Amino acid sequence: MPDKKFPTLTRRSFLSSSAKLGTVIAAAPYISRAAELGAKGDTLNIAVIGCGEQGSILTKAALNVPGIRFVAVCDIWPFKLTPAERLLKKYEHDPKPFEDYQEMLATVKEIDAVLIATPDFKHAEHTNAALRAGKHVYCEKLMSNTVEGARSMVQTAKETGKLLQIGHQRRSNPRYIHAREKIVREARLLGRITNVTGEWHRAVSDDLGFVPRYAIPEEKLNKYGFGNMHEFRNWRWFKKYAGGPISDLGAHQIDIYNWMLGANPSDVIAGGGVDYYTTHEWHDNVFAIFSYPTKDGVVRAAYDVLTTTSAGGGYHEYFMGDEGAMKISENPKLTRVYREARAPDWDPFVQAKLISRPDTGEGAIAGLKPWEKPRPKLMQPKVYASAGTGPAVVDVRESKALDAFEIPVELGDKTIHQPHLENFFDAIRHGTKLNCPGEQAFASAVTVLSVNQAVAAQKMLKFSPEDFIVNGA
Ligand SMILES: NC(=O)c1ccc[n+]([C@@H]2O[C@H](COP(=O)([O-])OP(=O)(O)OC[C@H]3O[C@@H](n4cnc5c(N)ncnc54)[C@H](O)[C@@H]3O)[C@@H](O)[C@H]2O)c1
Repeated sequence: MPDKKFPTLTRRSFLSSSAKLGTVIAAAPYISRAAELGAKGDTLNIAVIGCGEQGSILTKAALNVPGIRFVAVCDIWPFKLTPAERLLKKYEHDPKPFEDYQEMLATVKEIDAVLIATPDFKHAEHTNAALRAGKHVYCEKLMSNTVEGARSMVQTAKETGKLLQIGHQRRSNPRYIHAREKIVREARLLGRITNVTGEWHRAVSDDLGFVPRYAIPEEKLNKYGFGNMHEFRNWRWFKKYAGGPISDLGAHQIDIYNWMLGANPSDVIAGGGVDYYTTHEWHDNVFAIFSYPTKDGVVRAAYDVLTTTSAGGGYHEYFMGDEGAMKISENPKLTRVYREARAPDWDPFVQAKLISRPDTGEGAIAGLKPWEKPRPKLMQPKVYASAGTGPAVVDVRESKALDAFEIPVELGDKTIHQPHLENFFDAIRHGTKLNCPGEQAFASAVTVLSVNQAVAAQKMLKFSPEDFIVNGA
């Protein structure tokens, strides 16, 4: 039976698409990194460290990209390593399995790039070793559970000249790119952004367990830095291994605050606590407020992550300005742009450039160049005399102006991680720009990790611009 989550890839389609891409790229003018690829053409040899949930998702997404060959997989838990190896063999790859990443890096010389999806406290160790071994690295978010760890990763990438992409995949999502480049920046449909809110609300969940006969012996767990099997399975919730929900879930969205606003915050205040669970160390709910100094003025941005309630919630970011607001999410059902009643009529802008699909042009008004047109005057709302002493009633709908639309960009048959991996592979092959290089992810890591510090400090923390920069990188 085909795996429903993995429906598009068959061995036949993988092999034929690889072959086709090979022909096209062979004729293309290679620049910069092309020399590294040498005789093997465009094929990239990939290794994975950490074959758990996310390692498996990345592997499947990368299998959909032509010209990717998995040559090694590494995990300390045979219960995850063996299925990873099996899956890849099913697709005619021949990865060598390893428990120890150092042995893998020393033995499998042909590796070009490593995908790292281990728990956060291992990211710096694994990334720095792979970069020093001459490999490009795609490392999952949060970049590291410490600022020092994240800084060392940026420095090592700089020293070795190898690429470091961090797995904040929204930055390569075409819907997010369209929102940032077209809606917010080019068309300025939100006007001056004044506020942001964002949330990730999850229902109560049980701790992860394990089948006793597949437990890792304690001596081996200790060797790799884990206290016991419960912590090994539920590492997200423990201070030694990770930053809790604000870094597990909030990292994605707070990274988008920085990216969409083109700024880092100047201060943060936060509250939260371990109010519900009894087996965790990290706060199960956190509320934070940042101030962002942007070129248009200050933006106050609130964020909350909850792990005990999800009804009516979910996950999205909501950017609000004096002329409009935009709700955006990885969930396509939650993406919408709203016009503020006082804003100029959107119709010519929106219909020609933003409502129409940028790939097909479907819905566009022929010949109209909305960006060159002067913006229409402010709509004059009709004011009705009020009865008695109450306020006048303003009917803003009189203009029949369009006041909301869904962002018309979708991922098609790609999973949410594929475009970000493609961006990484393209950067290796063609020298194109990474969408989330280490130095930008470092600024996000500083922002995210500061929230837990603010909760502990019980006061506002101030940033200086230097806090977000790695010296010399
Ligand atoms: N980008 C996203 O949307 C997204 C989603 C989920 C998780 N993640 C990130 O991916 C990473 C992994 O998360 P997960 O949910 O897959 O966790 P997981 O616990 O399911 O998997 C981690 C795997 O790493 C292995 N491992 C631990 N120490 C190791 C070591 N020293 N060497 C080799 N393997 C080791 C474990 O055995 C396990 O199989 C985390 O950083 C997490 O934040 C990202």
